Amino acid sequence: MTSTVPTASASASGSAEQLSHRRLLMCSAKYFRIDYEINPYMHTDVQPDPAAAVAEHDRIVAAHLAAGRTVEFVEADPMCPDMTYTANAAVVRGDRAVLATLPPERAPETPHYRAWLEANGFDVTDTPYAFSGQGDALACGDLLLAAHGRRTDARVHRVLARHLGYEVVGLRTTSARWYDLDLAVAVIRPGRTLAYNPEALDQPSLRTLRGLGLELIPVRPAEAARFALNLVSDGRTVTMTAGAPHLAADLRAQGLAVVELDTTELRKGGGGIRCTALTLDNPA
Ligand code: ARG
Repeated sequence: MTSTVPTASASASGSAEQLSHRRLLMCSAKYFRIDYEINPYMHTDVQPDPAAAVAEHDRIVAAHLAAGRTVEFVEADPMCPDMTYTANAAVVRGDRAVLATLPPERAPETPHYRAWLEANGFDVTDTPYAFSGQGDALACGDLLLAAHGRRTDARVHRVLARHLGYEVVGLRTTSARWYDLDLAVAVIRPGRTLAYNPEALDQPSLRTLRGLGLELIPVRPAEAARFALNLVSDGRTVTMTAGAPHLAADLRAQGLAVVELDTTELRKGGGGIRCTALTLDNPA
């Protein structure tokens, strides 16, 4: 048995380590409920325990802060039971944002996100087409891995390219279980390393992904089903769900610090750790 001791981190190696996902927008879970069923995981007869949900969310916030990240908050609205999943608000790059066009059940969230982004100096645009925000659009250096065909209309990709200057890489998931791309693919090191569930992407998407020249970490479907890929990585620390020991070990073997947290309550809404944080510092 060999044990991998993470040696003096990448930052000491001379190559300029680029950290992002260090500035996050979150929203309290105090009004988190299952009022409707818009993904296969939501069941109105299986409600989160309110105190446990708040405690679970608090531990995620605490883990981000302990990793040296900054967390900002948009005020929760009692009429918006899914608002704790702020990843769906928009995609942000530099000082620009493209606002999501959420399913009708979640549409009341959007004015809150627009107001917060505008008040904080972002140049916000929107689109008439369905768009799941960062849930379906993962920044990876100058690339934006963007899904279409479920919560995001392919016509949004042009808007993302134009307003944010990304080279958009279009991907499709194989099932409504992966209704958002952030359940199927995770950016571990922007421009360098991705993790993905090979069963969650269709064949053309797998070919596209494998042609990008990035290091790819395959994740076991059973772990992906527990939302293992719904993680936040800043290139140094990975904050992820418990219950995916193989992925956690793979990431540690790469020299990353890994923090595993319980996500029992968030799962009832069909989301996990990545879903609760909109990245505000994707480099322009
Ligand atoms: N209940 C929410 C919905 O269906 C969950 C969103 C999860 N967010 C994500 N980025 N995957 O919209």
